[in-house]
Amino acid sequence: MRLSQYFLPVLKETPKEAQIASHRLMLRAGMIQQSSAGIYSWLPLGKKVLDRIAQIVREEQNRAGAIEIMMPTIQPAELWQESGRYDDYGAEMLRITDRHERDMLYGPTNEEQVTDIFRAHVRSYKALPLNLYHIQWKFRDEVRPRFGIMRGREFLMKDAYSFDLDAEAARRAYNRMFVSYLKTFARMGLTAIPMEADTGPIGGDMSHEFIILAETGESGVYFHKDWLDTDLVTSVDYAEDLQPVVDKFTSLYARADEKHDPGNCPVAADDLMSLRGIEVGHIFYFGEKYSEPMGASVAGPDGRNVPVHMGSYGIGVSRLVGGIIEASHDDKGIIWPRAVAPFDVAVVNLKPDDDACDPCAEDLYAKLVAAGGDPLLDDRDERPGAKLASIDLIGIPWQIVVGPRGMASGVVEVKNRATGETAEVSPESALNMVMDGAA
Ligand SMILES: Nc1ncnc2c1ncn2[C@@H]1O[C@H](COP(=O)(O)OP(=O)(O)O)[C@@H](O)[C@H]1O
Ligand SMILES: [Mg+2]
Repeated sequence: MRLSQYFLPVLKETPKEAQIASHRLMLRAGMIQQSSAGIYSWLPLGKKVLDRIAQIVREEQNRAGAIEIMMPTIQPAELWQESGRYDDYGAEMLRITDRHERDMLYGPTNEEQVTDIFRAHVRSYKALPLNLYHIQWKFRDEVRPRFGIMRGREFLMKDAYSFDLDAEAARRAYNRMFVSYLKTFARMGLTAIPMEADTGPIGGDMSHEFIILAETGESGVYFHKDWLDTDLVTSVDYAEDLQPVVDKFTSLYARADEKHDPGNCPVAADDLMSLRGIEVGHIFYFGEKYSEPMGASVAGPDGRNVPVHMGSYGIGVSRLVGGIIEASHDDKGIIWPRAVAPFDVAVVNLKPDDDACDPCAEDLYAKLVAAGGDPLLDDRDERPGAKLASIDLIGIPWQIVVGPRGMASGVVEVKNRATGETAEVSPESALNMVMDGAA
């Protein structure tokens, strides 16, 4: 992409309304624009990151055996009356009446909708296990939307729903999602600790929140200090029983505050960390809570009809954009982990129209495109200082800076955004460095 032809409305001033780094940086980097409280437009740079995060989530869901569908944002009230949640959900639900005076709602979550799909088509245990997911916008009329997209009213969530014949099979489904979450967040460069959690309004028996540590996080968390040295990367075969893997990652104490009882905590005070974190994912097993009232049952091997056991598994896709920035930024701006970066490398031409700089920058850009990369060429007619500052701000993992001084001796400057390390090298070496370097 040529920056001169892109839409990147970066802000010079720090927006006053933003209280936390990620919100400030997303506004300054031209990623989002507020439409109304807790509702945002995603501008090109923000949309690219959002899509890259969604794609990682999608790949790991597919790998774990979940199947992608797409359910609507608007749901009929009847489904929620059937489950008994229509009144309980309260003011967070955006209720809508259509032209025929039918009660509708903008979905805050999709347990009812997916159960309705399941019961219409599945009659036998032979179709199980089944896990259906979608990546779709949700609306929750939060009392206090804040921190930009971190706690929005409209937000993008990946929500998966598992269907199994009995509690034992449902536990295996839960474990597959548990492990896939470890893999998903690790791919984004995040340390997301699985913490025992309350089952909340969704109800049920077993639940974990995946929480990344951040001072500005809304959740209080308590965990054994050994978590800080735990490698959360894991490689598994989903066909196997994953209980040992889950046991390994749940053997160390970690709880969200609602579940932590200071008077009854097995961890010695010296070993207990009490910090704050951001909930980026949440998984639940809730058995027959929806299948029973909504009549989602299958015939088991003995021919008897039984309600299916269900679980639901959420990831805050839009919240992750902010969460990753909270975990990875400095005073100059965002530092994208390569896996979610909007562009892999920025080629900065410090002097457009210069006889030496132009061909070099153009050639680097063309070669990066030809090699299958996704480079950004800063060909704007702007002061060098302003260009470098905005490229630092938007956090591209690598920069190749082409300037008249370097051109005199045939070199460009390569900079790694995360480490700040720079090197003056030939354009070919620069290409090699950015193409194999993991940032
Ligand atoms: N208001 C919101 N804005 C952005 N992301 C949200 C919001 N509410 C929930 N999420 C994300 O969606 C995931 C699943 O939500 P869920 O656990 O059902 O909600 P809650 O945490 O309110 O019980 C959460 O882990 C979080 O990452
Ligand atoms: Mg939650």
